[in-house]
Amino acid sequence: ENDTQCDLMLFGALGDLAQRKLFPALYQLQRAGLLARNSRILALARKKLDTQSLRQQLRDKLSATIPGHELEEAVLAEFLAKIEYLPLDMEQPADYEAAARWRDENPVPLVVYMATPPSLYGTIAANLRTANCTGPSTRVVVEKPIGHDFASSQTINDQLAEVFDESQLFRIDHYLGKETVQNLIALRFANNLFATQWNQNQISHVEITVAESVGIEGRWGYFDKAGQLRDMVQNHLLQLLCLIAMDPPSDLSADSIRDEKVKVLKALRPIMPDMMETHLVRGQYTAGSSDGRSVPGYLDEEGADRSSHTETFVAIKAEISNWRWAGVPFYIRTGKRLPEKLSQIIIHFKPAPHYIFDPDQKHLANNKLIIRLQPDEGMSLQILTKDQGLEKGMRLREGPLELSFSEAFSTGRIPDAYERLLWEVMKGKQYLFVRRDEVEFAWRWVDQVIKAWEAHSGPPKRYAAGTWGPVASIAMITRDGRSWYEDA
Ligand code: BG6
Repeated sequence: ENDTQCDLMLFGALGDLAQRKLFPALYQLQRAGLLARNSRILALARKKLDTQSLRQQLRDKLSATIPGHELEEAVLAEFLAKIEYLPLDMEQPADYEAAARWRDENPVPLVVYMATPPSLYGTIAANLRTANCTGPSTRVVVEKPIGHDFASSQTINDQLAEVFDESQLFRIDHYLGKETVQNLIALRFANNLFATQWNQNQISHVEITVAESVGIEGRWGYFDKAGQLRDMVQNHLLQLLCLIAMDPPSDLSADSIRDEKVKVLKALRPIMPDMMETHLVRGQYTAGSSDGRSVPGYLDEEGADRSSHTETFVAIKAEISNWRWAGVPFYIRTGKRLPEKLSQIIIHFKPAPHYIFDPDQKHLANNKLIIRLQPDEGMSLQILTKDQGLEKGMRLREGPLELSFSEAFSTGRIPDAYERLLWEVMKGKQYLFVRRDEVEFAWRWVDQVIKAWEAHSGPPKRYAAGTWGPVASIAMITRDGRSWYEDA
């Protein structure tokens, strides 16, 4: 257990991320016996509060949100006992002295989690340095958004780099902590069956869908400055694309994996203004229904500026200019207020070279590998078999060779992304975190997309809440003789 022992300083401990994701994840680590006995947690935020009240608040909150069968009083008590609270103004260097005293020259590694707006990362880093808390055993966890374009990401990364070495920085993309996302690495590089098929000879196209049913609810101001491209594509969708498209790394080390991901980002074909019609669709939801109730449009949400052109949906036909992927489009789409919460990747294999079955079934004749990230994590390989029954002759039937993780492996609950990522930070393993050059190449490509659409201007296309986005998104893929999987 010694190699995971650490002190954790959590900045922004009363904020939404800490309350909704981090404390529950830490509790689950405690429950799984993964928080080392002597590890301690220092919760930091501006509000004047004492440790006892914070513990009580957390107790109430965790008891209300953690499923009953996972709530164990002894575990909770032990977990809360690790936590201390310290009020601190993140911009006041003097306030960090008390944090340094808490640290008390403890030799175990220090993990600093900045669950704050990125504009504060530089300030916190500099103040921690003054307080002598930035030695080589310090690890720093930061969240997106790392900037809103390439230039601003440079500023933030530079500020961090002034104080910390890249090997100390753990940039979170929580999609990399999802069980099935990691499984992609196992699927691709442990199964030769797929390894030999994974290229433009055998794959016709790839679909990546990250659909959400939620709208903007309560964070209109933040979201409107970002939009779905910056909020979801720059990070989560491009990370998924990288894991699908990257070449095999020579080992599982952070740099081997990240080197391969960077090569993919560099090979992404820039979206130029003359490709707007064929490669890009931006959408914004109007009133409609979600989960059976009627919901307002984006421009009618609380706090909305009615003239906003910010997109809540984006679909892109992305292309990767290299030997493995030339001619294989990656159709990616993501949006708010779509019919359901669903993240999935579909690899469409090319049809057999010569077709001998019923002509009217020809459209069925390609295998698909469906990788579901959420909900109901699993993979399914769609294969063709003969339909049963004498009268069916050689009619084909498409069906899944299915592997549902929850059914196949009764390993209990699947840990939340934050549990896995926090655990990796405690172990000091960086392979599930994003390196500076990944952030930068992703921004360069996204900046280009934004530049192209700004040149092209025009408002986003409308789609009613509860539908799969603007019809233009369907037209984009239909033009290539294909369809999005649900619409098939
Ligand atoms: C976040 C985005 O990074 O990811 C949110 O800022 C989005 O807008 C969320 O809702 C989706 O994450 P998940 O894990 O629910 O798919």
